[in-house]
Amino acid sequence: MNKMNEKQRLDSQQANSSDKKSEKDYSKYFERVITAPSLKDAKKRGKEEVKYHNDFSIPEEFRGMGDGRKFYIRTYGCQMNEHDTEVMAGIFLALGYEPTDSTEDANVILLNTCAIRENAENKVFGELGHLKALKMENPDLLIGVCGCMSQEESVVNKILKTYHHVDMIFGTHNIHRLPHILNEAYLSKEMVVEVWSKEGDVIENLPKVRRGNIKAWVNIMYGCDKFCTYCIVPYTRGKERSRRPDEIIQEVRHLAAQGYQEVTLLGQNVNAYGKDFDDIKYGLGDLMEELRKIDIPRIRFTTSHPRDFDDHLIKVLAKGGNLMDHIHLPVQSGSTDVLKIMARKYTREQYLELVRKIKAAIPDVALSTDIIVGYPNETDEQFEETMSLYREVGFEAAYTFIYSPREGTPAAKMVDNVPLEVKKERLQRLNNLVNELSAQAMKKYEGQMVEVLVDGESKNNPDVLAGYTTKNKLVNFKGPKTAIGKIVKVKIIEAKTWSLNGEMVEELEAAEVK
Ligand code: SAH
Ligand code: SF4
Ligand code: F3S
Repeated sequence: MNKMNEKQRLDSQQANSSDKKSEKDYSKYFERVITAPSLKDAKKRGKEEVKYHNDFSIPEEFRGMGDGRKFYIRTYGCQMNEHDTEVMAGIFLALGYEPTDSTEDANVILLNTCAIRENAENKVFGELGHLKALKMENPDLLIGVCGCMSQEESVVNKILKTYHHVDMIFGTHNIHRLPHILNEAYLSKEMVVEVWSKEGDVIENLPKVRRGNIKAWVNIMYGCDKFCTYCIVPYTRGKERSRRPDEIIQEVRHLAAQGYQEVTLLGQNVNAYGKDFDDIKYGLGDLMEELRKIDIPRIRFTTSHPRDFDDHLIKVLAKGGNLMDHIHLPVQSGSTDVLKIMARKYTREQYLELVRKIKAAIPDVALSTDIIVGYPNETDEQFEETMSLYREVGFEAAYTFIYSPREGTPAAKMVDNVPLEVKKERLQRLNNLVNELSAQAMKKYEGQMVEVLVDGESKNNPDVLAGYTTKNKLVNFKGPKTAIGKIVKVKIIEAKTWSLNGEMVEELEAAEVK
């Protein structure tokens, strides 16, 4: 983004945020606020064209800003945030900072936050409380809050009012502005708030420091336009914007050339990939068709929305090879009535039909899902429909959540007659079922041979190696450290509920894996 554009954007953001509501909220602190969030503005979906930029650079005057200084980033939330952290780490390094694993050693601490549920936010406020002592000991320390929580007005207000030891707040749309924001924070020593309510353009050449050299995240799109009624993400991440196919293909080729073994394509709703292009007709199926030709052993993608999962994609995935036989397909509920109020835009039957098609094309595919229990006014019968759908599909894993109201979303305004105790019981029953089906799926592997991409030593025991199968099952096994970063054959000896124990048999020849 060139300087002129940046200035224009900032001006228009300021114009956006100076509507009555924001002015009232921030008047007391206005001198510190460059641009403030507004969920109302974030909800708007404009027709403006997305511009792609390839000219990010660290401005001359900021080079060396980090010399002799160290940074620490704590990441909460989804893979999208993990990957944003890799980009921010890249910017810190380009500015001359060094990374550190300890908050005590850091000169700058960033909390890259998640707003998806209340407990995610509480964790961040807890951590901010702890950091106060560090700031008292070391007043030169800079503390920043970024990520999805920063996009919420209520959070920014709360930090401004209560957490005075925070030096900067910025959001998800302007992480490329990090050098400017840091500079501002050093100069003003006042809390600097720069949050854009509307998404920016796509900036292609941001530096990144990837965590590890075995697996890599690759963004294929940003934002979400689905507006499920419970979800804050469309507000915190802006409208759907797809990266151009050639940029993605080039990035994956480059990762393959560097020796990466696996890429995971990222987006909040990857199945909507390409829908925003008006010059070409190009979807996720087309992209996967191109990517499967690249010489990289494993390609995954997350997260899929059932509504946009089309036949072409199923056909391409069925070709297998480096396209993995595991699909994460969030269902949220097994009740058509609940799905309707959630605005998921599919019925129980349509979901089951999609599963049938996927299973017919990819026999033995492993399916996992996300489920919300205790949606406002969910009845016992509706919950039972979730239980029966879970069994009917035969999911092998699930992330399960109790519904958490998010301010600004339509569901947050709904009256809810389900007591928390009932929601907790439902979650417990669902989790028992999730464990039962996972254990069942795992049991089938006893005595079988699986291919494992070895991540490294097991977290609990350095004498044991750990990695994942093509279907994303965690395998712990004894083997030589030289196997780390490779795909090896492991014989499964024992199945547990959530992992497998085995013995390494041999390293796979590169050719066999393709
Ligand atoms: N884009 C992804 C989901 C991202 S959020 C998708 O649509 O599949 C990950 C999961 O968090 C969601 O699938 C949902 O199950 C859960 N979730 C989102 N908002 C929530 C809320 N308000 N309360 C509880 N769980 C929520
Ligand atoms: Fe949230 Fe729905 Fe978008 Fe997923 S698809 S991020 S659940 S609004
Ligand atoms: Fe959380 Fe934002 Fe991801 S709300 S789940 S970090 S997109």
